[in-house]
Amino acid sequence: MARHLVFHGTIIHCLSLQDLEIIEDGLVIVKPGGTISSLVKSIGRASVLSHLSTVGLSEEQCDVRFLERGQFLIPGFVDTHNHAPQWAQRGIGQGMHILDWLEKHTFPNEARFSDPEHARRVYASCVDGFLQQGITTASYYGSIHPEATNILADLCLEKGQRAFVGKCNMNRGAPDYYRDATAESSLSETQQCLAHTRRIDPEGKLIKYVITPRFAITCEDDLLAGLGEIAKSNPDLPIQTHFNEAEQEMSYTKKLFPTFENEVDLYDHFGLLTERSILAHCCYMSEYELQSFKELKCGVAHCPISNMTVGGGFMAAPVREFLRRDIKVGLGTDSGGGFSSSMLDAMRQALVASNAREVMSQGQDKGLLIPEVFYLATLGGARVCCLDEKIGNLAVGKEFDALLIDSKSSAPGIMTMVEDHDSMDLIFDKFIMTGDDRNIRNVFVRGRQVK
Ligand code: GUN
Ligand code: FE
Repeated sequence: MARHLVFHGTIIHCLSLQDLEIIEDGLVIVKPGGTISSLVKSIGRASVLSHLSTVGLSEEQCDVRFLERGQFLIPGFVDTHNHAPQWAQRGIGQGMHILDWLEKHTFPNEARFSDPEHARRVYASCVDGFLQQGITTASYYGSIHPEATNILADLCLEKGQRAFVGKCNMNRGAPDYYRDATAESSLSETQQCLAHTRRIDPEGKLIKYVITPRFAITCEDDLLAGLGEIAKSNPDLPIQTHFNEAEQEMSYTKKLFPTFENEVDLYDHFGLLTERSILAHCCYMSEYELQSFKELKCGVAHCPISNMTVGGGFMAAPVREFLRRDIKVGLGTDSGGGFSSSMLDAMRQALVASNAREVMSQGQDKGLLIPEVFYLATLGGARVCCLDEKIGNLAVGKEFDALLIDSKSSAPGIMTMVEDHDSMDLIFDKFIMTGDDRNIRNVFVRGRQVK
């Protein structure tokens, strides 16, 4: 018999950007289907079993876990942008400009995913690695290969990760050995992968297809137009691409598409900017583009690690400005342009990058705070993915995507983060700033324990 999952102890999550809630002596009840049915505050350990019986649950119907001091539950992390085929090339090509990095390192590497066995091996390791890091939801770019992309979707479903999975569309601006033959073949392979995703997860409970033009430089007009058509006839599908990442990319885009003043007009013309669009990077934003994002309800995948190390922007996005305008923004590891697949690393780098922006803006754009980067990694990312009604925090009615953190991990090399006099908010800050995957003891997606 499937049992209710019950946790008693500390729960930390964001109710909004400004509102980090720390519940000590909390009780979470998760129904067998994976939905949170109850969140009670201030209930003593001794009262848990009697509380369960008042809501009609016997001890046998429940798997009750009591958390110790220093352990706490948080929502799972949402990685709004990364590339599964770049799993094995993380960190390669530091300091290179984007188009050179793609040609020298990335295209030769991604081309290897024409071999399904290679894809299966690398993708299995990638999905396991992400779950290990507490990434319960990931928006993945695949390679151009439909078979490999379907393998990635199968693996996410099998391993229990919530995921957007897209075949990468690119029919120019890349070597012959690694590009779609024509716009037509690219579009029909996209339809094939979309059909596969709908077949393996008809209701999209965990897996969704994501329309994935790599970026305008690698797509001819008719390919972008065809993808816009697919988006129009499948309004439930998310869309992802790279946007205003770096000078080299922006100036080449202008050269290829001289009739468009900027990337908003370009992607909007082809029907690719909707409330389901996830635009990675957005490092350089004009007033017009900021206003358009707000009106079109597009979301930003902020990727501070890759922005500061690969691509040539060496400039992170104006996150404070996005937040001020209530433009949706979440965090992306952008692994492998990003050297790390840890969302904790992404949060820390977001803090660092925001401090640089504070200096650049002469104090106008204040650096981010720990609760704010935690928001970006959880509820903010869920909003970007239009999943905030389902996930992002541990509110009643949401699906239980959560991490059990153990800040007292006794793993070799980890100093305990907990001292007797530490308050819970201090322990939380210590975890965000110094924790790693050894402190992520268990990972749950829709109530299923996946680590
Ligand atoms: N722009 C187009 N493709 C890529 C990619 O793989 N990584 C990054 N960071 N930017 C891109
Ligand atoms: Fe990327």
